[in-house]
Amino acid sequence: MMNLSTSKSFYVCSFLVLFYPFVVTATFKSGYKNYSFPALIAFGDSVLDTGNNNYIPTIVKSDFKPYGKDFIGGKATGRFSNGKIPSDFLAEYFGIKELVPPYLDPNLTTEDLLTGVCFASSGSGYDPLTIEIASALSSEDQLEMFKEYITKLKEAVGENRTTEIIENSILIISMGSNDVSGTYYLSPFRKYDYDIEKYTTMLISASSKFVEELYQLGARRIGVFSLSPLGCMPLQRTVKGGIWRDCVEIVNEGALIFNSKLSSSLVDLGKKLQDSRLVYLENYIELHDIIINHTHYGFENGDGSCCGIANIEVGPLCSSFALKVCTNTSKYVFWDSYHPTEKAYRILVKQVLDNKIDEFL
Ligand SMILES: *[C@@H]1O[C@H](CO)[C@@H](O)[C@H](O)[C@H]1NC(C)=O
Ligand SMILES: *[C@@H]1O[C@H](CO)[C@@H](O)[C@H](O)[C@H]1NC(C)=O
Ligand SMILES: *[C@@H]1O[C@H](CO)[C@@H](O)[C@H](O)[C@H]1NC(C)=O
Ligand SMILES: *[C@@H]1O[C@H](CO)[C@@H](O)[C@H](O)[C@H]1NC(C)=O
Ligand SMILES: *[C@@H]1O[C@H](CO)[C@@H](O)[C@H](O)[C@H]1NC(C)=O
Repeated sequence: MMNLSTSKSFYVCSFLVLFYPFVVTATFKSGYKNYSFPALIAFGDSVLDTGNNNYIPTIVKSDFKPYGKDFIGGKATGRFSNGKIPSDFLAEYFGIKELVPPYLDPNLTTEDLLTGVCFASSGSGYDPLTIEIASALSSEDQLEMFKEYITKLKEAVGENRTTEIIENSILIISMGSNDVSGTYYLSPFRKYDYDIEKYTTMLISASSKFVEELYQLGARRIGVFSLSPLGCMPLQRTVKGGIWRDCVEIVNEGALIFNSKLSSSLVDLGKKLQDSRLVYLENYIELHDIIINHTHYGFENGDGSCCGIANIEVGPLCSSFALKVCTNTSKYVFWDSYHPTEKAYRILVKQVLDNKIDEFL
């Protein structure tokens, strides 16, 4: 039996987050700019965290080179990629703004608040054990920050305008990847007490509670990302994929079980919560396709990572000490062993939203 505290730092490396990708040049149609959503507000994990972890004591950080290699000014902002991440692309897609600042940034302006901020925290999940391992901000922490944000909005623009902003803004959640991929499949701590059915049921119950709490605070338009094919992340392939580094089917299966429960839970909640638009954002199928057919999307490499130690990385060992950082990020689906490149993220967001945007209206 492993001791939680001593093995913590080993496993934390595997807990960042996961995501996924998509097409060659994803330029968002200018027609989208007509949608008048006032703000984009993000919750969850490293798929959406634009830098909150820079301001909390955790080892799950990416505010150092070569992260941000292709970001504006080559700046490492705390985003887990070489450039922009889905929060930014979502805000752009909805015609709101180009970058979404982390809520914990001490220099936020009123304009930043009015157009949306990010509450997500890399390494986060619904399982309290995931939070403990990563020292990330939990969904409860993020909810408290959201309440404080609403108070600030009221001070800035009054009660009525605040209600209107919260009602019409797009809220996006990405959570659960670290629980399933890391806490369940890569650490030994949960498997004794839960099978994957029981574990995902616990996660979905936490997810539903979170969505309902956001609704109680006035939110109406909430999009929730599904899990990606977690078994095809470079990390899982390296640890469990055998000599051919195949996708790990049992892990993909776990993600599919989670997704099917998430999708039906949102349908049920949607019936219960009046005037809500709860949108299930499917990205398993999309990412799987881009990984398998990566050349079709303009990538040369779908199973390795640009930054890290070739195929033997045990975590996102992507840092200034990395043994390898590829020269052309555009050739890779994955930036580090967990997170897609900016190019893959841009394609993904477009693919995921193209058929869903009307559901937010
Ligand atoms: C966007 O708004 C402009 C001006 O109101 C209008 O001419 C145009 O048709 C709109 N585009 C879409 C896609 O709704
Ligand atoms: C906030 O603004 C101050 C003063 O302009 C600056 O020194 C500091 O670096 C800024 N902090 C961040 C996180 O941008
Ligand atoms: C706020 O909305 C309420 C109800 O719609 C209205 O009665 C009130 O006058 C509004 N207050 C302001 C300051 O606009
Ligand atoms: C991906 O590959 C599968 C199997 O070869 C094929 O059926 C599918 O059409 C491909 N998708 C794209 C987008 O090329
Ligand atoms: C980087 O790779 C992409 C995709 O293969 C290619 O289109 C681009 O020309 C490459 N850039 C450089 C500087 O080699």
